[in-house]
Amino acid sequence: MSKITAAITAVGAYVPDFVLSNQVLETMVDTNDEWITSRTGIKERRILKDKDKGTSYLAIKAAENLLEKSGTKPEEIDMVILATATPDMPVASTAVYVATQIGAVNAFGYDLQAACSSFLYGMSTAAAYIQSGRYKKVVVIGADKMSSIIDYTDRATCIIFGDGAGAVLFEPNEEGFGLQDEILRSDGIGREFLKIEAGGSLLPASHETVDNKQHYVFQDGKTVFKYAVSNMADISEKIMQRNNLTSDDVNWLISHQANKRIIDATSSRMNLDENKVLVNIEKYGNTTSATLPLLLNDFENLFKKGDNLIFASFGGGFTWGSIYLKWAYDKK
Ligand code: UT7
Repeated sequence: MSKITAAITAVGAYVPDFVLSNQVLETMVDTNDEWITSRTGIKERRILKDKDKGTSYLAIKAAENLLEKSGTKPEEIDMVILATATPDMPVASTAVYVATQIGAVNAFGYDLQAACSSFLYGMSTAAAYIQSGRYKKVVVIGADKMSSIIDYTDRATCIIFGDGAGAVLFEPNEEGFGLQDEILRSDGIGREFLKIEAGGSLLPASHETVDNKQHYVFQDGKTVFKYAVSNMADISEKIMQRNNLTSDDVNWLISHQANKRIIDATSSRMNLDENKVLVNIEKYGNTTSATLPLLLNDFENLFKKGDNLIFASFGGGFTWGSIYLKWAYDKK
């Protein structure tokens, strides 16, 4: 019997309708379109405005889109992994609610939290379950309502983040397509530089934490930027070397969309032509767990069966990594 690999067999996505442009941000904080565009590559981001909707809403929409596009019956799904830094609530698991809402009545699920690397780690988890032979259909959703944890008076963070969701289906493959290799890393040094300080067990919510704005994302952007550039470039180069891939062999770079300059640094270390580097940061900003599946959904038409995709991410924690995946289908 041939070896079982874990292939992505379908993708789906959802972004909310409301567009928050750089021009509107100019009226909210001391910033300007020229600075944001040149320093980050971002032009606009999507925001889920409805006060009564959380990350689950985005995740359900993305998963429903995936099911519809692929003709998958929800009851066939074995497992739902929700990669997110913004679960609906600390307890209960948002993945469980999402699974039930999409009709995945035979599935179990859980949330996976590794900041901006949540989806990449989720791909690794899903693939391991598939390769073990234990499950046949695993849905990984990357979804974040970043607007729920952003201080819209802090220009250091509010210009970067946006809301969105994407989903992929992993299934067993016997032709060798799917996940080929991964290098995943983390380093607790990052905890000081990118965090939400309060609301967890270390500093539970109180009037004081609310007054001190400690429930919003804090980021030391310059420090995170330096770590992101060197680690994402290093790890992407390493996974190419380990798999004897030249820049000609790599068809597409699917990089976390945090800052266009970080993506450029990574692709330049990989020596990739610009047309192989997929970018949609100008439309969505940094959607945290959703950046990678949103790229897959936006550029699905470009991928051919057998294409070599390199995924790369870097996020809070710090968490980072790279995955080498062979694309498994031509879009009909
Ligand atoms: O996704 C998870 C991981 N996160 C990341 O990878 C994000 C990594 N960091 C970044 O992308 C960048 O550090 C930022 C986009 C957040 C900031 O860009 P930067 O080039 O590192 O800017 P900076 O913080 O070094 O600030 C440069 C200047 C400062 O002014 P002075 O001191 O040089 O006069 C800032 O006060 O730009 C100023 N500045 C702004 N100006 C206009 C900072 N934010 C803004 C702003 N608009 N929004």
